Order: sequence, then structure tokens, then C-alpha cells
Amino acid sequence: MDETPHSAAYFGDTRDFWWNRDFLELMSRRWQLAEVRRALDVGCGLGHWAACLAPFLPAGCELTGVDRETRWIDEARHRSAAHPHLRCTFVTGEAERLPFADDSFDLVTCQTVLIHVREPVVVLREMLRVLRPGGLLAVAEPNNVAVNLVRSDLAVPVAEILPLVEFQMRCERGKMKLGEGFISVGPLVPGWFAELGLGQIESWQSDKTTMLLPPYASAEAQALVSEAEAMDRQEFWIWNREDTRRYFLAGGGEVEKFEDLWRRALARERFLLAGLRARTLDRTTAPTLLLVSGRK
Ligand SMILES: C[S@@+](CC[C@H](N)C(=O)[O-])C[C@H]1O[C@@H](n2cnc3c(N)ncnc32)[C@H](O)[C@@H]1O
Repeated sequence: MDETPHSAAYFGDTRDFWWNRDFLELMSRRWQLAEVRRALDVGCGLGHWAACLAPFLPAGCELTGVDRETRWIDEARHRSAAHPHLRCTFVTGEAERLPFADDSFDLVTCQTVLIHVREPVVVLREMLRVLRPGGLLAVAEPNNVAVNLVRSDLAVPVAEILPLVEFQMRCERGKMKLGEGFISVGPLVPGWFAELGLGQIESWQSDKTTMLLPPYASAEAQALVSEAEAMDRQEFWIWNREDTRRYFLAGGGEVEKFEDLWRRALARERFLLAGLRARTLDRTTAPTLLLVSGRK
């Protein structure tokens, strides 16, 4: 049995560089985080998102994190020592059945969690249940297929890029069909907020780009290079081979096409990695990470 906890492949150091702090400060004013007394981070993982918001929460604020993986909860508890002005609690629990009473929190939030769940609306409804009337529901979720479409790979012929876009879209949809989440869920969230009856629905996009300029001296660039090397060692694309194959087939992909597409997908990443190793690649990408909020 695979005992690797959920999302283990996605908790590399690059996650520390997802947001610009001044952008979060702006969001904290838009969201009036200084007024929040009780906050809940759903699917908190190691607490990366909680750590982003922590500097803007007022002293004495109760920050609770919940995740279904005990290992992440232990680690998040340990890391929360970095926020001594908050009263942090981390508990194990399912996003679909949050272990909290109705109307318990002023802020309920999550980052890259709806992309992993079978029924995002069920989770959102549950987050809304534990939010007090007037409280803020705020989620950060990506549109991952967009990142691949906007890569400016002029050295790669269009005819080689398009099959990989189709490959990714089939895999994403197959993963969703299997009930394992839809990794480009971000743009769908405002509509769900409306369906659930939230008011003051607003959406924004992170202003963070990922900039790789030789010689990659910044801590962020070094984290990106290490991640690219680690993914190459593990033959990891967006997912590992076995999962990618399952998703591709479930998304209507033809079995005989898989090997070729998998090889091409890895080759494209290796082409970039070769440029990183040669210290010649400069690459700025703009991940599409949406922030959506509304009031109960
Ligand atoms: C990609 S990680 C995001 C972690 C954190 N929010 C962050 O931004 O760093 C997704 C997290 O959601 C948790 N998770 C996935 N499905 C869940 C569920 N149904 N209930 C509770 N936690 C869940 C995973 O264990 C993992 O820690």
C-alpha cells in the first residue's frame, strides 16, 4: 500500500515563493483581515497558505488548520511557532466533514485544495457551514492548463506543442472523471460561490511570476532548479507515469498513444532542464492562481 501522504510531490521549496508579500498585504486590506478573530485554513498541508496570511492577522487571532493527513498536521503545528502572535491549532479532519460547529469562523480559506477533491461544491458548502454570517470565504485555486498554453517556447514547433496541450487536457479531465479533482478549477469557483448564495463575490489573480534568469542566484531560482532536477530524477511530469496513464485513459486517450506522448512530455521538460544546466535558459512564467472571495 502506498503510504505517501497526499500532495507529498508538491511540497517542495518553490511553494515558499508563490506570492508577493505586498500583493498579500493589499489582499489583506481588501479582505479586512485585521478584523478576523477566528480563521480556518482547510487542507492546510504544512501550513504554507496559513503562513502567507499570518502576518496580516491580528495578535491573539485563533488560526486553525485542518488536513486529512496527520503527518502534515504535525509538521504544520511545528512550523506555526513562526507566528507567535497567533493562537494556532492544527487538527486532522476531512474537508467534506469539517470537525467544527456551524458559524464558528470569521474567515474560512483554502489554497490548492479544491483541485484535489472529488466534489468541490460539497467542500465549499461545508466551508460555508462553519463560517459565521457575514464572514469571508476566500480560496486560492489555479488554472493549471493555462500555464502550458502560455509558454513561449519559440524553439519548439507548434506541431509539437499542441499534442502536449491535448495530452494535459485529457489527463486533467480524466483525473476529474476518476473523482481525483480538477487541477484547473480556479475559473469555476466564482460560479460556485454564486450558486451557494454568497454575496460580494470578487476574484483576483496573483501578480507573482516565476522568473529564471542565469545564473539563477536567487533563493527562488535555486528552488526552481532543484525542483526541476528532482522531477527529472523521479521521471515526474505533472504526475508520475502511472497516474498520468490512468488519467489519460480515463480522459478518452488512446492507449497506443500514451507512450509517445509521455516521452514527448518528459522530453520537453528535459529540454528546459538542459538549458538550466547550461545556465543559458531564461524563462519567466506566469502561473494562473486565482483568488476568489465572497461573504456569507
Ligand atoms: C496541494 S496541498 C495544499 C496545502 C496547503 N493548502 C498549501 O497551500 O500549501 C493539498 C492539501 O489538501 C489536503 N487534502 C486533500 N483532500 C483533502 C480532504 N478531502 N480533506 C482534507 N484535506 C485534504 C492534502 O492532504 C494536502 O495537504
